[in-house]
Amino acid sequence: MKNVLSIVNVSREFETKDSSIIALEGVNLNVKEGEILAIIGPSGCGKSTLLNIIAGLDEPSGGSIVFSKTEPVISYMLQSDALLNWRSVLDNATIGLEIQKKKSKESVEKVQRMLEDYGLQDFIDKKPSSLSGGMKQRVALVRSLAVEPDILLLDEPFSALDYYTRLNISEYVHKMIKLSGKTAIIITHDISEAISIGDRVVVMSSRPSRVKSIYDIDLKGDSVLERRSSEDFNKLFNEIWGDLDDEL
Ligand SMILES: Nc1ncnc2c1ncn2[C@@H]1O[C@H](COP(=O)(O)OP(=O)(O)O)[C@@H](O)[C@H]1O
Ligand SMILES: [Mg+2]
Repeated sequence: MKNVLSIVNVSREFETKDSSIIALEGVNLNVKEGEILAIIGPSGCGKSTLLNIIAGLDEPSGGSIVFSKTEPVISYMLQSDALLNWRSVLDNATIGLEIQKKKSKESVEKVQRMLEDYGLQDFIDKKPSSLSGGMKQRVALVRSLAVEPDILLLDEPFSALDYYTRLNISEYVHKMIKLSGKTAIIITHDISEAISIGDRVVVMSSRPSRVKSIYDIDLKGDSVLERRSSEDFNKLFNEIWGDLDDEL
């Protein structure tokens, strides 16, 4: 499979007033076209820093990010991705299109269809305040996908949600990303979530952080719930937990 991007020997050191922190040190990783790559690692190891660098919001101290495309469209969905309360659900979902000057009758209709496909048909003209937390995340995800990104970055997108909503939304997210055929990198601190959503799971070490291990996930079943109940799930969970536990 073709690489969408390569992370080549990336390091990132932060200078603070009287000390410095090495967050990332010699991170190497290829991201393949169409895959969902899940990244887990100890808190504070540099996962968000790595996504910021990929998104171009932060610069590495060393190394580089090499994209296969000259000007890739990157969509970045944050943990508490706010919707604007004075805009309708539809007008929130089209913000990315507006910013990128890609808003047209066709693109808005496509967004409308996505909202319908993901159970939001009755809320298209409503204000976000009338939505549940899981619904808001679905709108945020439609907004991220609407710009047809080459790469979708998600930084712990479900961490503010309760357990059942997380399970439910992770099902949607998996389905939406797979149907769109997009490449996605998702950070999570939940091992089960990483295994059930990811095509590969990357475990980062504690600071200074590097790639500790990579797992190919080949579980039976198309849905997150099926994958969670497949035979190999627990085996993978324990292996990955063992890797992480070494780092805590
Ligand atoms: N702008 C910054 N200035 C100083 N230190 C930072 C900055 N951003 C992140 N850090 C530090 O770098 C480390 C990695 O942070 P982060 O990437 O947010 O970790 P993670 O997302 O894995 O929890 C942390 O110790 C954090 O405090
Ligand atoms: Mg983080």
